[in-house]
Amino acid sequence: MGITAMIRPTFHMSGIKKENGERMDNKFKKTILCIGAGYVGGPTMAMIAHKCPQYKVNVVDINPERIDQWNSDNLPIYEPGLHEIVVSARGINLFFSTDVEKGIKESDIIFVSVNTPTKTFGVGAGMAADLQYWEKTARQIRKYSDSPKIIVEKSTLPVKTAQAMERILTAKGKSVHFEVLSNPEFLAEGTAIKDLETPDRILVGSNETPEGLKAREELVKIYAEWIPRDRIVTSNIWSSELSKLVANAFLAQRISSVNAISRLCEKTDADINEVSYAIGMDSRIGNKFLNASVGFGGSCFQKDILNLVYLCRGYGLTEVADYWESVVRINDHQKESFVLNMLTAMFNTLAEKRICLLGFAFKADTGDTRETPALYIAKQLLEENAELVISDPKALENAKKDLKGVNGKITYLEDPYEAASGSHAVAIVTEWEEYRNLNYDKIYSSMQKPAFLFDGRNVVDHEKLYQIGFNVYPIGKPALTHF
Ligand code: UDX
Ligand code: UDX
Repeated sequence: MGITAMIRPTFHMSGIKKENGERMDNKFKKTILCIGAGYVGGPTMAMIAHKCPQYKVNVVDINPERIDQWNSDNLPIYEPGLHEIVVSARGINLFFSTDVEKGIKESDIIFVSVNTPTKTFGVGAGMAADLQYWEKTARQIRKYSDSPKIIVEKSTLPVKTAQAMERILTAKGKSVHFEVLSNPEFLAEGTAIKDLETPDRILVGSNETPEGLKAREELVKIYAEWIPRDRIVTSNIWSSELSKLVANAFLAQRISSVNAISRLCEKTDADINEVSYAIGMDSRIGNKFLNASVGFGGSCFQKDILNLVYLCRGYGLTEVADYWESVVRINDHQKESFVLNMLTAMFNTLAEKRICLLGFAFKADTGDTRETPALYIAKQLLEENAELVISDPKALENAKKDLKGVNGKITYLEDPYEAASGSHAVAIVTEWEEYRNLNYDKIYSSMQKPAFLFDGRNVVDHEKLYQIGFNVYPIGKPALTHF
C-alpha cells in the first residue's frame, strides 16, 4: 500500500488532553513498552502506534543518540515510508525515551527487541547468540516491575530462551506475575513498512496454560486491529521461537542454492536467470528469492543459521548442523569467487587500479551495511592494492564507519557517474533500482580502457553493455568479453 493510503485510523483526541497540554495516560486502553529502538523495535512500534491509537506506545533504548534521532526528522534508519508513520503517531501515542525504569513501571505489555548478535567470546564464540543484553533486560524488568506484565520476545533467540527469561523474572522474591510470549518479527529491511502493514503472517507463541492463552489473546487483539485473524497464527512458545530461526535458514538456503548453481552455470553456458525462471514456475518451488547474487548479507541470515547450527550441535545432531552450516559456507564461497573473478579477469593484478563499487548496503532500499558482502569485497580489493571508489545512495555514512582504520585508498562519492569516472572497473554490489538504468554510454566513455563491469546482482542489460564496449561479467552466465 502506498504511503499516502496510510490514513491514520480515526481517534478523537479530545478529552485526553489536559488543559496544560499534558496527556492523561489513563485514557489509553493499555500501555505498551518496547525495549530496543533498532531496525526491528522502531518500525514495529511505530506501526502498532499508528494502527492502534487506543494504546500508548513507549519505546526506550540505552543509546541516547538513537533516541534523539527517533525524536527528530532525521530518523536513525532509512526505510521507505517510515518517516510518515512515525510522524503520524509521535507525541500522540508514540514516545521515544531513554527512561527504561519509568517505561517498565508504567507498561502492561513489554516487547523486548534488543540485539542478540553472534557471540564473539568464550564458549560458542562465532556461532551462538550473545544473550547478555537479553538477560540484562530481563533483570531490569524484574527489578522495576510492580504490576503484572506480558513480556513479548521480539528479538530472534535460541529455542528455550523464554524459559530462561521466565526463570529470571519469577525467581524467588518476586510476587508479580509475568507471562512470556514469543512473537518473532519477519519484516525485511527496505520493505519493513509494507511487511508490517500487510504481513504474510503474525506468529504468537505462548505457554499453553490458562494464563498463557489469555496473554496470547491480548497480543493477538493488538495485531487484529489491522491484520485479518486468519493471518495471525498461534502456537506453543518453542515452535514460535524455532520458526523464526527456520524461516531465515530456509530463505538463506534458497539463496545459497541458487548461488551454488550460478557457479555451475558459469562453467556450462547455462544462464542462471533462465534456470531460476524455469524452476520458479513450479508452484512447489515458487518464484521468489531466486536471484543469484554476490552473496546474502544483513544482520539476520548468517547469525540465525549459526545459531541454529550451534543448537543442533548442542543436541548432538552433527549431520543436521553440518547441513545448515553449508549454507553459510556457500555464501562465503560466493563472495570469494566474485573477487577472484575480478582479479583473474583484470589480468591478475589490481594494484593501483581504480575500482568503483556501485552499492555498499547489504540490499537495496536500506542504508544498513551489517554483514554486507560489499565490506568483504572492499577489504579484499584493498588487500590487492586497488584504489576504491564507493558509491551508494543511502549507505555511505555506514560504509565510512565500517572501513574506518582499514588501510588503502578509498573515496566515497554518492554520484555514480563521478564515482565511475576514471575507473578501470565498475562492480555492482547492491541491487539499487537506479543502477539498472544509468547512462552506461556516459559511464563507459569516462572509464579507463579496457573497461570492465562486474554485475554482482544481474541488474543491467548485459548484452547492451557489451555492445557499448564493456567487458561484462554477470553472475551465473558466461562473461561477454571483447578479448
Ligand atoms: C533485531 C533483533 O532484536 C535481533 O534479535 C534480530 O535478530 C534482528 O533484529 P535490530 O533491531 O536489527 O535487532 O538491532 P539493532 O538495530 O542493533 O537494535 C537493538 C537496539 O537495542 C539498539 O538500539 C540498542 O541500543 C538497544 N539496546 C541494546 C538496549 O536498549 N538495551 C540493551 O541492553 C541493549
Ligand atoms: C531477512 C528476512 O527476509 C526477514 O524475514 C527477517 O525478518 C530478517 O532477515 P533482511 O535481511 O532484511 O530480511 O532482507 P532480505 O530481503 O531477506 O535479504 C537478505 C539478503 O539476501 C540481502 O543481502 C539480499 O540482497 C539477499 N538476497 C535476497 C539475494 O541475494 N537473492 C535473493 O533472491 C533475495
